[in-house]
Amino acid sequence: MIYQLTYTSEAIETLADDDIYAILKSSEQNNHQLKISGCLLLYNQKFYQILEGNEALVLELYEQIKRDPRHYNVTLTATSYAKEPLYKDWGMIFQDVTTSATDPEDVQQFERTLLMLESLTEKTTESEIWFWREIKKELVKKKVIVH
Ligand SMILES: Cc1cc2nc3c(=O)[nH]c(=O)nc-3n(C[C@H](O)[C@H](O)[C@H](O)COP(=O)(O)O)c2cc1C
Repeated sequence: MIYQLTYTSEAIETLADDDIYAILKSSEQNNHQLKISGCLLLYNQKFYQILEGNEALVLELYEQIKRDPRHYNVTLTATSYAKEPLYKDWGMIFQDVTTSATDPEDVQQFERTLLMLESLTEKTTESEIWFWREIKKELVKKKVIVH
């Protein structure tokens, strides 16, 4: 069984592009080695991540990530098991619309992409449901989704 874990956190205000590249680089190297896949998103100064793989390895990585000073308020939202890894081909999607992309059109484009991903992704496990629910909550807050 594949163990899945999803959490949210808040990026420190001084988070720079260099920090983002460093996180991405470590993630690509380590996760590949540990056979952990997932998806990481930075939107509106908040991180959303889903990690999946061997249970002990995922939990160990999560403990390490939790101690990272580049974010705080790390909150576990859900854990679940899946028959197969669901985010194997995603790589770690990483988009920062709060610091580097100041062009409102870029932000809007990104929000449209998020909405599309959210609607196209088949959500079969608790972790997936919660990963996308938290992102959707932020889109509603920013009035990208109007009820
Ligand atoms: C929001 C966030 C997500 C992260 N995700 C991962 C991850 O998926 N894999 C990983 O190895 N490190 C991740 N990191 C970085 C780790 O906290 C840590 O810096 C890194 O694993 C150290 O490994 P290194 O010494 O090989 O660079 C993340 C950090 C943050 C702030």
